[in-house]
Amino acid sequence: MTISQKMQDALIEQLHHELYSANQYLTMASYFLKDDLDGFANFFLVQAQEENLHAMKQFKYLHDVGGHVKIQSIPEPINHFTSITHVFEITLAHEKKVTQSISNLIKLSLQENDFATHTFLQWFITEQVEEEALVNTIIKKLKMIGDNSSALYLLNDELAKRTFDSQSE
Ligand code: FEO
Repeated sequence: MTISQKMQDALIEQLHHELYSANQYLTMASYFLKDDLDGFANFFLVQAQEENLHAMKQFKYLHDVGGHVKIQSIPEPINHFTSITHVFEITLAHEKKVTQSISNLIKLSLQENDFATHTFLQWFITEQVEEEALVNTIIKKLKMIGDNSSALYLLNDELAKRTFDSQSE
C-alpha cells in the first residue's frame, strides 16, 4: 500500500501538531509544578504523554504505508498563563483546533479515495471527542470552585489520579 504525497504531507503536518501539543502540555505541567499543584501538573504530564503517543501512532502508520517523515521545527508553545482556568481554556481552544485539523484530514482521505487512512483516522476523531469533553468538565468544575481553595485542592487530588496507559490507547 502506498500513500499519496498529498495525504502524506497532511499527516506529517498533523504529526507536528501532536508534537507541538506535547510541548504545550509540558509548559502547562511546569506552570503547576511551580505552585506545588502536583495533581494539575500530573494531568498535563499525562496529556503530554498522550500527545507523544498520537505522534508515534502517526509516525508508525506513515511508514507502514510507504511514507517517510521529515521532522521540521516546532513553534514555541504558549508559556505565559494568568490563572488555572486560563490554562484549561487555552487547552480547550487548542484541542478544538486539533479536532478541526483531524476532520480536514478525514475529508482529504475521502477525496483521495484513501480508505486505509480514513479508517486510521477514526481513532483520532473519537479521541478528540473524549479530550474536549474531559477539558470541558474540568472548566465547569473550576467555575464552580471559584476561589474556594479547599475545593481546588480536592480537584488537585482528583487530577493526581490520572495515569497514562499506552495499552488502552
Ligand atoms: Fe492529539 Fe490532544 O490531540
